[in-house]
Amino acid sequence: MKRFASGDIATACVDTGAPRPAAPTLLLVHGFPLSHAMWRAQIDGLRDACRVLAPDLRGYGETPLGAWPTDAGASLARYADDLAAMLEAARPEGPVVYCGFSMGGYIAWSFLERYRDRLAGLVLMDTRAANDDDAARAVRLKMADHVEAWGAGRVAELMRPKLFGPAASPEVVEATCATIAAADPRSIAASQRAMAARPDATGGLGAITLPTLVVVGEDDAISPRAEMRGVADAIPGARFEAIARAGHMAPVEQPEAVNAALRSFVAAV
Ligand code: MLT
Repeated sequence: MKRFASGDIATACVDTGAPRPAAPTLLLVHGFPLSHAMWRAQIDGLRDACRVLAPDLRGYGETPLGAWPTDAGASLARYADDLAAMLEAARPEGPVVYCGFSMGGYIAWSFLERYRDRLAGLVLMDTRAANDDDAARAVRLKMADHVEAWGAGRVAELMRPKLFGPAASPEVVEATCATIAAADPRSIAASQRAMAARPDATGGLGAITLPTLVVVGEDDAISPRAEMRGVADAIPGARFEAIARAGHMAPVEQPEAVNAALRSFVAAV
């Protein structure tokens, strides 16, 4: 892992690939409450095609949480600012493609608002443009309030039933749940408060001018296929790929199919 200065912290990041000068850079932004580890198959499978940057977001994996407001003021823009600073420090030579999985996709809306000019392409993977309804927001805030007492292991057990499709291998399920169970409860609380506060991004989809790929596991129970199809239809010229035999965790459940979609998209940027 390299370390790139990002405001008050250093972001830990896998930095590999760069098969030729000015090759594209694929920035892989993980979901909640995971780490760069979810991208192992993409890091290994795509490093011959592009430079791959796979950071641990603030508070996850090897990146410290640093200063974070405890309730009011929590915002996904904080992660977007960290990623922008990290990208600047990493000095990508070629075009940059932002690939956001789930929470990483929610962060993309903030990133686009602030740093659109840094990107040449966008991948939205198993994510949503709509924000939470009141019931979903209440569930997030309850977890944020109690997770330090519960521990992250309980979060893994609460999330497990919704994360995977019926074809997911037990190894993949266990590895993902182990990553969640190892997460820092303070970081879980920070992300949940920030996700609960996120605005609805649906109204801005028609104004996206970046080449965009929308990818979703066919059996995704968190960001359903029909909803992601709607996101793709609203973004001018967006490509849509549904991944067979995959749930929400499509990139770990069906890495070859996801890598094929990413490879052909990055090659065209
Ligand atoms: C994720 O995978 O990042 C989360 O499931 C997103 C969410 O909680 O909405």
